[in-house]
Amino acid sequence: MRRVFVTRRIPDEGLRLLEAEDLAVHVGQSREDAGVDRASLLKEAARSHGLLSLLTEPVDRELLEASPGLLGVANCAVGYDNVDVEAATELGVPVSNTPGVLTDTTADLTWALLLGVARRIPEAHEYTVAGRFRIWGPNLLLGADVSPGGSGRRKVLGIVGPGRIGAAVAERAAGFRMEVLAHGRSESRESRESGGELKKGERRQEAPGTTSPTGPLMRRTSLDELLERSDFVSLHLPLTEATHHLIGEAELRRMKESAYLINTSRGAVVDEEALVKALREGWIAGAGLDVYENEPALTPGLAELDNVIVAPHIGSASRDTRARMATMAAENLLHHLRGERAPNVVNPQVYETEAWEARRARSNQ
Ligand code: DGY
Repeated sequence: MRRVFVTRRIPDEGLRLLEAEDLAVHVGQSREDAGVDRASLLKEAARSHGLLSLLTEPVDRELLEASPGLLGVANCAVGYDNVDVEAATELGVPVSNTPGVLTDTTADLTWALLLGVARRIPEAHEYTVAGRFRIWGPNLLLGADVSPGGSGRRKVLGIVGPGRIGAAVAERAAGFRMEVLAHGRSESRESRESGGELKKGERRQEAPGTTSPTGPLMRRTSLDELLERSDFVSLHLPLTEATHHLIGEAELRRMKESAYLINTSRGAVVDEEALVKALREGWIAGAGLDVYENEPALTPGLAELDNVIVAPHIGSASRDTRARMATMAAENLLHHLRGERAPNVVNPQVYETEAWEARRARSNQ
């Protein structure tokens, strides 16, 4: 009987799909507030044919080399920076992710952080529940407009990474009558000066189930122009060597003092120490963060600032979306186990390798 290891308890919809098959399904950690320890992860992966992982577990070369029977890794997330895809490809292990289904949910959370930090919602909540609201005040908890508001000026939203989620965030900006700038990861740091237009609501790698774009025109621009002009800068990039610390001290200093940084992608895209300095010293007005450089740890000082909203990586955390992610990961895993091409494989070139053929042949013996 084929054995699968699900590193942590995923929503039941996904587990049920696996349990309905002729499989031995093992769940590593059922507690919500704990991960699976490394020794158990290595031991379990080494004995399994399929691994369903979360972004909290490093699926690295050591693990992959020690797991000769593995027919695939189904990562239950759209991001897969926790998986060494290069090593997986070399060793003949297909890797899959869960794109598309969490686009809207993550875009909604991005807006919740953006509006929350601009309008100081956490401070307002604390003020009210502390019983300090005694009289309406003309100067009480003044925040920044997101729509033209009192100034009448259209605000500028800068999307760094206008892929699926970035485009969905831009789509929502239409209701706030914003101007939207976009800078894609295809422009490297060296080609920052490049310009060009994105078509209305343009998206890359469109996935089934993603809503159709109705957003405002996104004008592609250099990163420098985007940082200099935006009132809100929202990050939607995968974490790679090229995007690590893409937003550091120099970039934060380029932003307007009145601007806000929103990050729902991966923490290490931002140099968090530089961000704390920027927030403390007023280089920018505030930040809304769902992800952290050394997650779950926060850089010292970050939690004490009152111009920041921090959330515990809940971008995709709606009941329906998490259930869909779990079923999608389980479906991907079933394809891996059958030796079939998985619908959301991120390293399709693996199917051309002898290493993959050898794994498949071994598993049929
Ligand atoms: C992802 O999918 O990559 C998110 O960070 C968690 O849903």
